[in-house]
Amino acid sequence: MALQLGDTAPDFTAETTEGTIRFHEFIGDSWVVLFSHPKDFTPVCTTELGYMAKIKPEFDKRGVKIIGLSVDPVDSHKAWSKDIEETQGYAPNYPIIADPERKIANLYGMIHPNALDTLTVRSVFVIGPDKKIKLMLTYPASTGRNFDEILRAIDSLQLTAKHSVATPVNWKEGEDCIIVPSLSDEEAKKKFPTGWKALKPYLRVVPQPR
Ligand code: BEZ
Repeated sequence: MALQLGDTAPDFTAETTEGTIRFHEFIGDSWVVLFSHPKDFTPVCTTELGYMAKIKPEFDKRGVKIIGLSVDPVDSHKAWSKDIEETQGYAPNYPIIADPERKIANLYGMIHPNALDTLTVRSVFVIGPDKKIKLMLTYPASTGRNFDEILRAIDSLQLTAKHSVATPVNWKEGEDCIIVPSLSDEEAKKKFPTGWKALKPYLRVVPQPR
């Protein structure tokens, strides 16, 4: 059965460019972004992995570890890292899992044979410190991902995990939020004593809680 939001991220042991890891140990008390790419020494992947290295400080700031994966071996990942540095200005500064036997790829449903034969597609899993899957997305090989969107989504995930709000369309850190529908007005008065703007009874807008 395919993984779904709220499921526990399957544990595994894997070789990476930074040594052997046990995934649940790696997660520890952090948030994690696990992202797969189809193949080493391919153009779109080269840009993606370089960009992830560039914006790693943004993940660090949010307490998020990042980890890549493809079905190539560690030696290949290491050799390719030099090309990534040369062409993108940043070498991967996070572990990349080697999954030549496709064990982890199959565990996470990262191989979509009708789209891309035996290679991994561009999957992203955001996993919380409780080891549950909070967000998943899947892009085809031909479309590089927007990793700034992953940061934006993490801001929302971390905020909404703490406060009784949801974030509206295109929301960005610092912008107004929406009180979750499950909270009655009575309950909302306690959590948001300075009030809210009710555009409709179900659409109650509040400044971002801190
Ligand atoms: C790429 O990263 O450019 C790529 C990888 C696999 C298939 C197509 C493109």
